[in-house]
Amino acid sequence: MEIRHLRYFLAVAEEKNFTRAAHRLFIAQPPLSRQIQQLEEELGVALFEKGSRPLRLTEAGVFFQAHAQVLLDKMADLKTMTQRVGKIERTLSIGFVASTLYGLLPEIVRRFRTQYESVDITFHELTTMEQMRALKEGRIDVGFGRVKSEDASVRRILLREERLIVAVPAGHRLAEPGRPLKLRELVGENLIVYPRNPRPSFADQVLAIFSDRALHPEHVMEVRELQIAIGMVAAGQGISIVPDSLQGMKRTDVQYVEIDDKHAVSPILFSIRLMDRTEEIRNMLQIIYDVYEARGIPHVKEEL
Ligand code: BEZ
Repeated sequence: MEIRHLRYFLAVAEEKNFTRAAHRLFIAQPPLSRQIQQLEEELGVALFEKGSRPLRLTEAGVFFQAHAQVLLDKMADLKTMTQRVGKIERTLSIGFVASTLYGLLPEIVRRFRTQYESVDITFHELTTMEQMRALKEGRIDVGFGRVKSEDASVRRILLREERLIVAVPAGHRLAEPGRPLKLRELVGENLIVYPRNPRPSFADQVLAIFSDRALHPEHVMEVRELQIAIGMVAAGQGISIVPDSLQGMKRTDVQYVEIDDKHAVSPILFSIRLMDRTEEIRNMLQIIYDVYEARGIPHVKEEL
């Protein structure tokens, strides 16, 4: 079975007609019919119902269509990903979720720039799910995110688990100096979570922390992004659970309170194209570990 067979089959399945499919593929109809016949012979099953007008797929045909499409999409991704890995200019395009910008990302990038002056760095604010697509399309080379999603073309490295804290309006009754909050103390509050889309997102991680402990926040408000959540907290609309690094976003109208639960954490993930071991990626990972070691931050170390 050749890739050509998949392309021909998909055109016929979509057009539901041999003549239109042949036209779309810029070939004559008889060779197209022969190729589909060959494919059915090789598979030993009928992909189209005989004599149906417009053409209808058999059950095996529907199955084959779904998988053939996935294979062709993967081929397209392979092309852009390989072109990106083989690029000649020294560039590094970084995708990041907003919260990493309040934590160690700026320091890591400053160090990288100092050590590797000739590398041209660009930034894209993207959710973790958006980073997966951007990696495959070659728009970014590395993504810093928080949501564990499975994708066969992407390698995820867990850098560390970051503690979560609660952002409350300044002067709120829950903000008693030196008293960490129990999660059950938060269930009656208006809980502001982000981002609303795409899901699963950091919002689901926060909600899972409650549901894993059989707790159910009574009022949940979903907002588009971190900055809106913090703005809403400042305006007294509710509280929000955020990564510890948010303490770096100093505001006089918001206070940050620790959570009395060492399992209330969020992962920081480093995502790259599977098997991408280009110099810039290796250097970036090394600098992250250097920063962790310099600051005594516990982390998991992985080799590329
Ligand atoms: C961190 O906070 O651990 C981190 C943030 C951005 C990039 C890498 C690490």
